[in-house]
Amino acid sequence: MLRLALLSACALYVLSNAPSVNCGCCTPEQWEGTEGLLGGYYRWFRPSLISSGSRVAYDGMGKRVAAVSSVQTKRGRFLVRVIENFSEGTLYMINLSRKKCRKLPLEREFRKACIPDRAKLMSESYIGAGDNTLGISGYALRIDNKKKRALLDAFVTVTTEGCIPVSETLTGSVRGVSFLDIIGYVNVTAGIEDEKVFDPPSYCDDEPTDDFEIQESQLYREFRIFGM
Ligand SMILES: *[C@@H]1O[C@H](CO)[C@@H](O)[C@H](O)[C@H]1NC(C)=O
Ligand SMILES: *[C@@H]1O[C@H](CO)[C@@H](O)[C@H](O)[C@H]1NC(C)=O
Ligand SMILES: *[C@@H]1O[C@H](CO)[C@@H](O)[C@H](O)[C@H]1NC(C)=O
Repeated sequence: MLRLALLSACALYVLSNAPSVNCGCCTPEQWEGTEGLLGGYYRWFRPSLISSGSRVAYDGMGKRVAAVSSVQTKRGRFLVRVIENFSEGTLYMINLSRKKCRKLPLEREFRKACIPDRAKLMSESYIGAGDNTLGISGYALRIDNKKKRALLDAFVTVTTEGCIPVSETLTGSVRGVSFLDIIGYVNVTAGIEDEKVFDPPSYCDDEPTDDFEIQESQLYREFRIFGM
């Protein structure tokens, strides 16, 4: 009984088989935030680990995302900038330590940073204590894309009010690579402070990147709920 009382109106609608009701949610159209990521990948007896701290920018209206990341792999620590311009269909991977850029085609459509309606609302809870709390909603979602050979389980949390990203865990495999990505978001602000975050530098060419860990990490962005 108590558990039932804690379920949201949305879950109750689903339980009572009511006609279509919007259970997922979309983040605001434009936001920036700080993202922490820890990823582990395994391909052909080759394990690797990546950790990064990024300042990310999401522009749903302009169909573009950008990130400036400090990335740690077994090769060391690099400063990397990534820009995805979906109207142009290009991904820019910029090595800020070396001032080198790789321009790659983006072979997919822009997807808004939304938790789809088919996601299951798993929990409603709060963080903090006493008078100082913040409501958090947790959703689970299976991503089964045979064409891309992807089978993933995602668990995502957002603030109950406003659908602001809090965390994302992705586990499963894509094209034979097994992996686990754990992502957290803090210091989210509304809007884009400086549109220049989406402008690539002048030194971009189209050689593919050869950095395994960073490449792997990029490969899974497309399956991340928030696309970051
Ligand atoms: C960036 O440049 C540094 C310095 O040349 C190099 O060691 C590193 O592998 C490069 N990183 C990427 C991701 O290309
Ligand atoms: C988050 O914002 C606070 C307050 O502006 C700042 O002191 C802190 O360094 C920021 N943390 C991160 C990880 O960006
Ligand atoms: C992104 O693509 C659009 C449409 O092609 C273009 O107008 C814009 O300048 C591009 N932005 C960047 C940063 O390349």
